[in-house]
Amino acid sequence: MKSFVFHNPTKLIFGKDQVKTLPDHLPAGTKNVLLVYGGGSIKKNGVYDDVMEQLNNEGAAVTELSGVEPNPKLTTVREGVELCREKDIDFILAVGGGSVIDAVKTIAAAAKYEGDAWDLVTRKAAPVDALPFGTVLTMAATASEMNAGSVITNWETNEKYGWGHPPYTNPTFSILDPQNTVTVPKDQTVYGIVDMMTHLMEQYFHEETQSPVQDEMIEGVMRAVKDTAPKLLEDLSNYEHRETIMYAGTLALNGMMQMGYKGDWASHNIEHAVSAVYDIPHAGGLAILFPNWMEYNIDVQTKRFARLGEKVFGIDTEGKTDKEVGLEGIRALRKFWSSLGAPETLADYDISDEKFDTIVDRAMKRGPFGNFSELQENDVYRVLELSK
Ligand code: NZQ
Ligand code: ZN
Repeated sequence: MKSFVFHNPTKLIFGKDQVKTLPDHLPAGTKNVLLVYGGGSIKKNGVYDDVMEQLNNEGAAVTELSGVEPNPKLTTVREGVELCREKDIDFILAVGGGSVIDAVKTIAAAAKYEGDAWDLVTRKAAPVDALPFGTVLTMAATASEMNAGSVITNWETNEKYGWGHPPYTNPTFSILDPQNTVTVPKDQTVYGIVDMMTHLMEQYFHEETQSPVQDEMIEGVMRAVKDTAPKLLEDLSNYEHRETIMYAGTLALNGMMQMGYKGDWASHNIEHAVSAVYDIPHAGGLAILFPNWMEYNIDVQTKRFARLGEKVFGIDTEGKTDKEVGLEGIRALRKFWSSLGAPETLADYDISDEKFDTIVDRAMKRGPFGNFSELQENDVYRVLELSK
């Protein structure tokens, strides 16, 4: 393992009706709150009312920024920054899924930066301050509620990048009530499940050779998600299954699984480039790309693929080579995601090879990538070709 420092400053508040404790977590003296949310799901399911009740109890003046898009846009972030300045905002509250939270992270840092928010996303400049912010999570998927990452899309240039700068982009607290996720529709529930499983696997395929504790943790969380997902899809309002999936989503990418190594993350890079050009759901793209990335890289450390197949998908190893077991594991993963209803090929989103050049160009903007297996331009092309 490499040396590491683990410091996650987010206070996690998990459980039924925990939104009622919101006032306890706001910084003392909070006066002007920017409430940020998406396209309106929180107004339909009552989460908006629950949050407003608590903010009103606190006597905070609330300014709203609504309409944050899935795959949040730079233009929306800029709107948020303007509001922070105009209304003298001292705290931001994100109520929604990863997109709302990611937008808030960049707004919080850009509000304290003189230049344009895009400078931060492209890492042309680094923040030296930020407004504090908290979250009320309504969808289990990204773990943005407990990490420093923020993924923003610039539609003028078709670029979508992840960035983050602890501690400025770490939420001060996140409130997770599984009840608030029961209204997440089936397709988004599936995306969330695929996203968290992919986060676990991005970290499983890492560059170190010594990681027995992390391996067991990742395999365990993967198995729990795999066992729970079909039951949840049969009964979307089941509290216990929502609870399991919500907890798994946060654990999958809050840093706990990635101590002592970096993880691969190439598939995420390629997916961000695909959704920067086609605006598809993040995990829809991952469901297509990740198994192809696996197949393309199976010879890099074949044992790792075999271990995943055996420990997570229960592949019988008797009389088989590691490569056979690994390939069976990849087939089992594909079959599992398909059984949930996840997309299988880029054609499912009407994406042909027409814009592969642009996608590869965007993916390569920061140079070759992937820590388990470094991908060059032609490798990215090949993974896209396999995904057609
Ligand atoms: O906008 P509303 O009306 O709220 O509807 C949302 C949205 O349409 C809906 N939704 C959320 N909670 C709901 C609900 N509908 C009914 N009931 C509820 N309780 O779900 C839709 C998708 O929401 P979104 O926030 O876009 O989903 P997700 O959490 O999957 O976030 C995706 C974004 O996060 C980025 C992705 O690239 C993408 O832009 N990622 C962020 C990461 C991070 N910060 O660490 C890591 C990830 O790998 C990922 O890249
Ligand atoms: Zn993801």
